[in-house]
Amino acid sequence: VPEIGCLSIIVLGASGDLAKKKTFPALFNLYRQGFLQPSEVYIFGYARTKISDDELRNRIRGYLIPTKGASSEQSESVSKFLQLIKYVCGSYDGEEGFQLLDKEISEHEISRNSVEGSSRRLFYLALPPSVYPPVCKMIKHCCMNKSDLGGWTRIVVEKPFGKDLDSSEKLSTQIGELFEEPQIYRIDHYLGKELVQNLLVLRFANRFFLPLWNRDNIDNVQIVFREDFGTDGRGGYFDEYGIIRDIIQNHLMQVLCLVAMEKPVSLKPEHIRDEKVKVLQSVLPIEDKEVVLGQYEGYTDDPTVPDHSNTPTFATVVLRIHNERWEGVPFILKAGKALNSRKAEIRVQFKDVPGDIFKCKKQGRNEFVIRLQPLEAMYMKLTVKQPGLEMSTVQSELDLSYGQRYQGITIPEAYERLILDTIRGDQQHFVRRDELKAAWEIFTPLLHRIDNGEMKPIPYKPGSRGPAEADELLEKSGYVQTRGY
Ligand code: BG6
Repeated sequence: VPEIGCLSIIVLGASGDLAKKKTFPALFNLYRQGFLQPSEVYIFGYARTKISDDELRNRIRGYLIPTKGASSEQSESVSKFLQLIKYVCGSYDGEEGFQLLDKEISEHEISRNSVEGSSRRLFYLALPPSVYPPVCKMIKHCCMNKSDLGGWTRIVVEKPFGKDLDSSEKLSTQIGELFEEPQIYRIDHYLGKELVQNLLVLRFANRFFLPLWNRDNIDNVQIVFREDFGTDGRGGYFDEYGIIRDIIQNHLMQVLCLVAMEKPVSLKPEHIRDEKVKVLQSVLPIEDKEVVLGQYEGYTDDPTVPDHSNTPTFATVVLRIHNERWEGVPFILKAGKALNSRKAEIRVQFKDVPGDIFKCKKQGRNEFVIRLQPLEAMYMKLTVKQPGLEMSTVQSELDLSYGQRYQGITIPEAYERLILDTIRGDQQHFVRRDELKAAWEIFTPLLHRIDNGEMKPIPYKPGSRGPAEADELLEKSGYVQTRGY
């Protein structure tokens, strides 16, 4: 077996926001923890801007260390990391730049004595999807390596993958004509979050949950995403997409799949993704009466947002899964910008106790909450005897807060974990083409109705819970509000 050759990580769109804020910091963290060895790794930044290696390094530097109080050790590791980065300037649709890029990568491979056919090339497209097709074409024509000795070429892409079913399928076909599915890593960074990755373990390694996780015991499931800030300078992008495309169709649907899927045959990525696709394919068409849309007041003040924009910045959508396990259980997906808090959580609410002699429902139902962020935690709301001489009951919690239970353990950033997976060739936490298609199939009719102005968002105050109608829909769907935690 040949030794694995050297690794080139090519960040396309190197001077853009995503690269600076997410990609390079994640690479730096991997480097710091010893996952990227200077003896075998080199990083190439590629973009259209004419800058030097040092200019790129200086642009990135500020995102890698705390502005105040960086220790000399931190500064030193940043400097060493930055020395691994080289910049190549070129266009996204011309051969010249990509040929130059290929030459640089090959020189690096030769300098590391990498045997031809064993080198690894990871292309990270930190770019708008409109340029994915030309860029993929150029990579295919100019930058592929031989793979006969275990080497590979992989590409990493990130949403938005189109705006609806047709545009997404078109993009998938264009990329699919150039690369095989095992070479394509579609990032949904929610799949890199610690508590999202924990869902499979929780569900399938605990006897507690196995017999209860179904329509006989669960009344409703909520998957909630809230942000306490608005579009924050991204108004132009956001207005084209809206909250359903930005958050619900991808991040929240991926979470829903992991909550609702059947046990996979094994932990092989294909087995897991097969089960996720089945969930998506079992979702019934969305009914307008089970949708509430909102737009925060002041959203259109952003000069990049049209004055009469119909784009929702908030949505609650009830999904129904038509299968043996979930028939009749509403899955309530809620996402909003400019709300009263920043939080992402899953709330699984159980049915009332039959023949209840304690009036449990008055205090609140059993509820299992998984808080994805901030302050990762899982807790179970349950009814216990109020300590004391009287026989009365009270709602309490069994609480697993990660900050307390796992003190001293740093939870990795989603991007860090996902980039490492792309290097290792593990596609479990990436979206497969058929998953993407099935998720678009669910939302496209609703999105078209919104785009055509047939459905209007209700205004809500920034810093609020969103439109009151969303809470009414929640209640109608069976959710019983208990005291906050
Ligand atoms: C991105 C969306 O995918 O996720 C943003 O485009 C959103 O609008 C972000 O703010 C939220 O990510 P996180 O990890 O902060 O919850």
